[in-house]
Amino acid sequence: MTRPTNDTLLRALLREPTDYTPLWLMRQAGRYLPEYRASRATAGSFMDLCRNADFATEVTLQPLERFPLDAAILFSDILTVPDAMGLGLSFAEGEGPRFARPLRDEAAIRALEVAPMEKLDYVFNAVAAIRKALGNRVPLIGFSGSPFTLACYMIEGRGSDDFRHIKGLMYSRPDLLHHILDVNARTVTEYLNQQIEHGAQAVMVFDTWGGILSGPAYREFSLEYMRRIVAGVKREHNGERVPVVLFTKGGGQWLTDMADTGCDSLGLDWTVDPAQARALVGSRVALQGNMDPISLMGSAEGVAAETRRVLEAFGPAPGHVFNLGHGISQHTPPENVAVLVDVVHRHSRALRT
Ligand code: CP3
Repeated sequence: MTRPTNDTLLRALLREPTDYTPLWLMRQAGRYLPEYRASRATAGSFMDLCRNADFATEVTLQPLERFPLDAAILFSDILTVPDAMGLGLSFAEGEGPRFARPLRDEAAIRALEVAPMEKLDYVFNAVAAIRKALGNRVPLIGFSGSPFTLACYMIEGRGSDDFRHIKGLMYSRPDLLHHILDVNARTVTEYLNQQIEHGAQAVMVFDTWGGILSGPAYREFSLEYMRRIVAGVKREHNGERVPVVLFTKGGGQWLTDMADTGCDSLGLDWTVDPAQARALVGSRVALQGNMDPISLMGSAEGVAAETRRVLEAFGPAPGHVFNLGHGISQHTPPENVAVLVDVVHRHSRALRT
């Protein structure tokens, strides 16, 4: 009904032919942009940007004003969800996220409930405000963390090197971990459906930590809950298909299992060989990725060469969305992003003729 004027991203996610390879960048609105740092200083903090629809809109649009990107992504965070469950999120300057009340005992775990969606209204208001400000330029991507990745932060209470608390629970009381994951999956399904209702035109599930698991544990504790989300998310809204993207960092060896969930597209980190990924999943899903974000730290010539290499590795067949293999570093020179965007657009057109 309301396809954006530039619908290249949506077409590529659905494996329809496109004139060129569309691109967006994970964390495209962020600290590598001086205008983002200025907005954050005005707002006060990162969460103040997320909680105010005007600020969230402003920073979502910043990368699009600089570069002709093919999508916007909601400015928010995956940790809004456990915060809405009452765990008490804070971001200490330069230290990453912290939860005041991590899940460390059976009583707290048993008391966990699906987050009341009203507590996430600020996210849905941001989605609606961004859609309005975007006009019909490019599609808006909504997102959530995976149930397992959210559980990592909920149980560890912060980032971790060894994930000993969540793995301890997984090996000693798998029933309790399954309870958390079940609550998370039901919350994430509702959360993504509300984002879609408010205007998100594609959704992505970030499974940043699924790759720390063994194969059987990945299938049981991460993939199964993403499968439930794929099954429960509204795949059509206002007569338009809403593509679902799954991304497990470090999940390259499980791509066929991931495609079996019925999702539309898989995100690849930079360690995955695109031709091998395509051979594994066939034409079932689109692929999104996968340039090493740190390659953007080099010279302009180096960035151009690496961008061409990644495009050629995916080949000209339909169903590729260019992206980085993980979030862009705050140390990235914005000029190199301009080179990347230009080379993706021009070289992918050239490869098609
Ligand atoms: O991609 C985008 O531009 C949209 C916004 C977005 C953010 N976080 C903004 C953000 C998205 C999609 C996320 C997802 C997210 N958040 C993930 C999954 C993706 C991934 O990176 O693996 C995870 C694990 C988080 C949790 C999180 N948020 C951490 C660990 C941190 C601190 C580390 C860091 O990079 O500072 C954040 C903070 C955060 N989320 C920032 C931004 C722009 C930086 C905040 C700031 O200091 O301004």
